[in-house]
Amino acid sequence: MRKALSYLLILTLLFTVSACSSNNSTDSDNTGSSSSVLEFLTYNFNGNKLAIGYKVTEISQNEIITVKAINQNGNVENFKFTAEPIEEKQIAIFDLSNTNGEITFEFSAKSAQDTKNRATLVFNNKRPQLSTDSVTLVMNSLTEGEMARLLVGYFGPSEDKVVQGSYQLNAIERFGIPNYVMADAGAGVRIFPAFTTWYPSALSIASSWDTEVAYMVGEAIGNEAKVMGVDCQLGPGLNLHRSVLAGRNSEYSSEDPFLSGVMTGHYVVGMQSTGTHADLKHYVANNQETNRYNMSANVSERVLRELYIKNFGYAIKIGNPKTIMTSYNKVNGIFTSNFADLIRVLREEFDYDGVITTDWSTNADVIQNILVGNDLTNPGNKDQYNAVEKALKDGTIPKEIALKSVERVLKLIVSSNSMGNYRTDEIDDEKGKEIAYKAAMEGMVLLKNTANTLPFTSGEVALFGVGSYTTIKGLQGAGWINSKENINIDAAFKQEDSGYTLNKTMAEVYKGKDSHWETMPSEPIIPDEKITKSANEADIAIITISRLSMEGTDNKNEKGQFLLADDEVSIIDRVTAAYHSVGKKVIVVINSCYPIETVSWRDKVDAILFAAPGGKMVGAAIRDVIKGKVNPSGKLSATWPVLYEDTSCAETFGDKYNSDYTEGLYVGYRDNVSNNLRYAYEFGYGISYTKFSYSDFKISKNEFTTKDDTITAEVTVTNTGNVAGKEVVQLYVSKPETLADQVARELVGFGKTELLAPGESETIKITITSYELESFIDSRDSWVVSNGSYTLYAAASSFDIKYSAKFTVPNEIVTSTVTTDLTGLNK
Ligand code: BGC
Repeated sequence: MRKALSYLLILTLLFTVSACSSNNSTDSDNTGSSSSVLEFLTYNFNGNKLAIGYKVTEISQNEIITVKAINQNGNVENFKFTAEPIEEKQIAIFDLSNTNGEITFEFSAKSAQDTKNRATLVFNNKRPQLSTDSVTLVMNSLTEGEMARLLVGYFGPSEDKVVQGSYQLNAIERFGIPNYVMADAGAGVRIFPAFTTWYPSALSIASSWDTEVAYMVGEAIGNEAKVMGVDCQLGPGLNLHRSVLAGRNSEYSSEDPFLSGVMTGHYVVGMQSTGTHADLKHYVANNQETNRYNMSANVSERVLRELYIKNFGYAIKIGNPKTIMTSYNKVNGIFTSNFADLIRVLREEFDYDGVITTDWSTNADVIQNILVGNDLTNPGNKDQYNAVEKALKDGTIPKEIALKSVERVLKLIVSSNSMGNYRTDEIDDEKGKEIAYKAAMEGMVLLKNTANTLPFTSGEVALFGVGSYTTIKGLQGAGWINSKENINIDAAFKQEDSGYTLNKTMAEVYKGKDSHWETMPSEPIIPDEKITKSANEADIAIITISRLSMEGTDNKNEKGQFLLADDEVSIIDRVTAAYHSVGKKVIVVINSCYPIETVSWRDKVDAILFAAPGGKMVGAAIRDVIKGKVNPSGKLSATWPVLYEDTSCAETFGDKYNSDYTEGLYVGYRDNVSNNLRYAYEFGYGISYTKFSYSDFKISKNEFTTKDDTITAEVTVTNTGNVAGKEVVQLYVSKPETLADQVARELVGFGKTELLAPGESETIKITITSYELESFIDSRDSWVVSNGSYTLYAAASSFDIKYSAKFTVPNEIVTSTVTTDLTGLNK
């Protein structure tokens, strides 16, 4: 019996620590209990004796902590002792000769209800097993090789729980550390061969301007990840759309840091509410795909902080993601995961204590990653693993630095789905469909609707454009999900109860043009006679213009990409001529990962709907918006320029080695509103089947005086049209130029109404804080809310201002001073 015990010893230690201070409080008295924290540091077995080194912190002077041990059948063993009220390491020795293998240790407490300091330790084969309370104990027991395994990820043969297409941190069985499984992420759980739901892209979600939609999709993906055995979703992405042509824009939300950060933050909250971890990516300035592994984003410190980092700030504040992924690119000449001060911004300025991981197979140095606090290098290879083990052994990586990362990784694993054994491999398909459909719908943006072309409720529809048959649901790469029963536009219109029939002439022309692969089929040649025939047969034409995008490649200002291809021009010209000549209308659906040129052709067509990659139900959502079953309520999350040359970074974007952000703060609408520039469709634009009026704008005060001050703006929106609809209200601020140049206005808040019936009103209230008002003043290394006069604008888009009101900051407010230097000049 004793022999067996020494090989398989399972000890459960339940510590309830609370202060027994000198006053005479009883066990049931919960008031005044201290918040002493017990930490287990070391352990040692000697025969049947177990010595546990521990530390009690935050203990007050006259507290006495007593410990008793109870074995599993309830017998109290004679392990009673008194711990000294000191914060240094203490040793408790337990003689286990009389136990039957399982034992519970209890720290007696002033308050039995005080669960704050309850601790559990399980020993198996004489090793502490990983649990919330044993992190320090376990990390102090690891060999250098085991530590290296936790700091260098792995992409290898699937073990039982690891699904194809996922990555993992290998299990360390002797300490009960399970595999930690990570999977992509752009728009669902990207694993093979299992099927999961393909949800709308970040671009589609952001176009809804509805934080509940972001939460809902994050939560749905989190639930699917959990049952598929995935601990961490490698997303959401939130880099800004610096250029309209950036390859991954549809995986990211917006050109604006506030919209992008807030929407992404809520997505993270939804995802993590399920227990699945989120990985916010890619920190930072990952704004182009050209030479993505090596290029440097050269950007001034102020612009970097106010635009490209600020959205991470919002998402971290709102969502506290369990992990953050650094980017492939360099910033000001230094790889982001190697850039100590960039990492310090997260750790010190955002108080971020989660795990920071690299992007996959980064070119950055693995040792430097760990030295600067980029905890995990993913997926890692053997050479990197060996290098880290060696550096740990020879001290190149000091143990205390490595332990900080190991501790963060262990805490991550301890809070993962894997610890709870949630895998069932069963996603709720029906629920997935419902959420994917609802979310896709909310992200539809109506750009044009002449003479109430839409809604078009029933009749025969002729579908043009391969995108009508292979509708874009996500982008190639991390955004491509292995999903079944995906609904293309034609399938949605073909559905029996849809109220539509499909024009057979066009269906025949496009036969075989449906594809589920990550490429678009070619456009067929359509003879004029067929177009004329369809115009006589069908009631309306829908032309889908689609643009796929892909990780690793930027798009170009060329025909077939930003510009229409010749065959697309020809289809628009010939179809509009044929249909208009018989009094029928033409709708264009832009189903695209990025904005395209529209001004040269938009006057020819009757209605234009922008449908960003919208997941598996995108076709049904497009159909139902066209039908009027749902009134579109999305608005653009990025500016659509007239020409590519009109964008402020046109000359520097896409440089192979150095992308110089010479446009400074003038990105997207910030440039348009400041310099009164032309645009095709402005940031925040989107129309509806109804109309809204704005009234009763007011702000809560006229002075903003302290860092913790807030100011609330409110405006009433009334549906003045004939059908129910939702409106997105935007709040912009213009700041005084007391200390620095400012753009003319920037987004600081937004709100979406409920579905308002005709005649119904809703008051939207938006509160802003100093975080929205501060500017980074380089010369003072400080974030400052400048003194001076500010204007708040209630608007329907970045150019459609409804009301304004002024307030003053009488004295400047320094919100924080930084010690980090992001110029890259002081490596
Ligand atoms: C992408 C990441 C992705 C990772 C894992 C990288 O190439 O940049 O966004 O999560 O691969 O697939």
